[in-house]
Amino acid sequence: MKEILHQLENKRERARMGGGAKRIEAQHNRGKLTARERLDLLLDQGSFEEYDMFVEHQTTEFGMDEQRIPGDGVVTGWGTIHGRLVYVFAKDFTVFGGSLSWAHAQKICKIQDMALKVGAPVIGLFDAGGARIQEGVDALGGYGEVFFRNVEASGVIPQISVIMGPCAGGDVYSPAMTDFIFMVRDTSYMFVTGPDVVKTVTQETVTAEELGGAKVHTSKSSIADFAYDNDIEALSQVRRLIDFLPLNNKQKPPTRPVYDEIAREDKSLDTLIPSNPNKPYDMLELVHKIVDEGDFFEVQEAFAKNIITGFARINGQTVGIVANQPMVLAGVLDSDASRKGARFVRFCDSFSIPIVTFVDVPGFLPGTAQEYGGLIKHGAKLLFAYTQATVPLVTLITRKAYGGAYVVMASKHIGADINYAWPTAEIAVMGAKGAVEIIFRSDLGDEEKIAQRTNEYEERFANPFIAAQRGYLDEVIMPHSTRRRVARALEVLRSKKVSKPWKKHDNIPL
Ligand code: HXC
Repeated sequence: MKEILHQLENKRERARMGGGAKRIEAQHNRGKLTARERLDLLLDQGSFEEYDMFVEHQTTEFGMDEQRIPGDGVVTGWGTIHGRLVYVFAKDFTVFGGSLSWAHAQKICKIQDMALKVGAPVIGLFDAGGARIQEGVDALGGYGEVFFRNVEASGVIPQISVIMGPCAGGDVYSPAMTDFIFMVRDTSYMFVTGPDVVKTVTQETVTAEELGGAKVHTSKSSIADFAYDNDIEALSQVRRLIDFLPLNNKQKPPTRPVYDEIAREDKSLDTLIPSNPNKPYDMLELVHKIVDEGDFFEVQEAFAKNIITGFARINGQTVGIVANQPMVLAGVLDSDASRKGARFVRFCDSFSIPIVTFVDVPGFLPGTAQEYGGLIKHGAKLLFAYTQATVPLVTLITRKAYGGAYVVMASKHIGADINYAWPTAEIAVMGAKGAVEIIFRSDLGDEEKIAQRTNEYEERFANPFIAAQRGYLDEVIMPHSTRRRVARALEVLRSKKVSKPWKKHDNIPL
């Protein structure tokens, strides 16, 4: 018996060594951790339970029957993050470059199936060269099976991908269908085809970093949501994100003990809005001042900075924050901001996370670049996402809410539950100057008259009281009391229930 136990331990030890000491050293020399080291950091200490450690590929082509490594390039199992269950898989770059064979795919599928059955998130750590080239169609089929499960699980359990090395081909499409993508700066890349293929096909010379590094994907393509300097930081931030989320779409997000007074007033908010309406102010200051302990986890921080999205807690309860940022492009809604906002709103709605929206928006961005780029459709995504949302929606207009953007940014008309405004709010079809130039076109050239008309328009519309008279706003509130008002609004909405007409699924403008 002792001998058998000893044999098992030896087998396990061999599997744990993956592609061997030399390749592990090479991995470390590149500033990367191994798959197992990463899982140790991601999960609570000692909580990892591994499956399928001895699975091997069945390929015989190209001498592969001579090269079998237990585990076949992916470490799978489950563990906990702050005591809450998560399923995990981590690609092992030291084994065939983490490439995916049929057997490797089946290990991932098993994890996805288990996670769906029990209702727990899946976190995938990627560091891989795509389809196992020696396997051909079996590897392609394997990807298909993983993708199928990604889609089945979408909106049912949170799915998170962490890109921690080169990722090509199938190893970018699976992450693209998950909810959030983390990247590590300087060591991770994502592309469908690498620099060599790009050179052959388009004659473009481009480095891996320029083609698909963390900077490109967090600031240009918006494929990735977060970027961190190294593996350790990225994994600790994944733990932080998980803390905000429910384990599945049937649960409410977790609530945490609150050490921040709900009725805490902040007098500095009374002077946040500058007296000059064209002067910007930092909307993040408002976000930090009203959420629990000022703790805000920003999503897509480097992309479309004219809109802010992220998670926070109010009265211990997770909320999604969406806010226009007057510091960037005056907070205007353009195609990128609309897409960013829409995707975030849909995630929150899938997982019962209430949304708090802060509005200071001068409208949609005019111009051929925007119109040719499909602003109408992208703007419609945000409109569609908010309108479709059934989670509690609390909206506060701090300053401008002009035109279509007033309607889109979680107005009462499209289903928001509680709508507040500060006394500094201005709700109008457009800014006073533009409005006067259209409706008093005959006065153009007479500067005095135009100035007088502009003043009249401002006096009439540059306030929240007409909307309040109509009941489109529930209350005009004191800025210093915002935290208490929003917290109380969320409290009464906890039991919100809405039923929508039956449909197979909607047809969101994609
Ligand atoms: C089998 C692979 C492999 C692959 C890498 N390796 N990719 N083995 N299949 N796809 C092996 C290498 O042979 C090598 O083995 C080890 O992994 C490390 O690879 P290196 O090239 O030495 O590492 P590096 O220089 O860091 O380059 C990493 C890389 C590169 C950028 C990922 O290996 C690469 O370009 N690989 C191919 C990428 C690719 O085109 N994949 C197919 C995509 S198509 P040894 O034994 O020397 O350690 C696809 C289709 C799916 O995925 C479509 C679904 C829709």
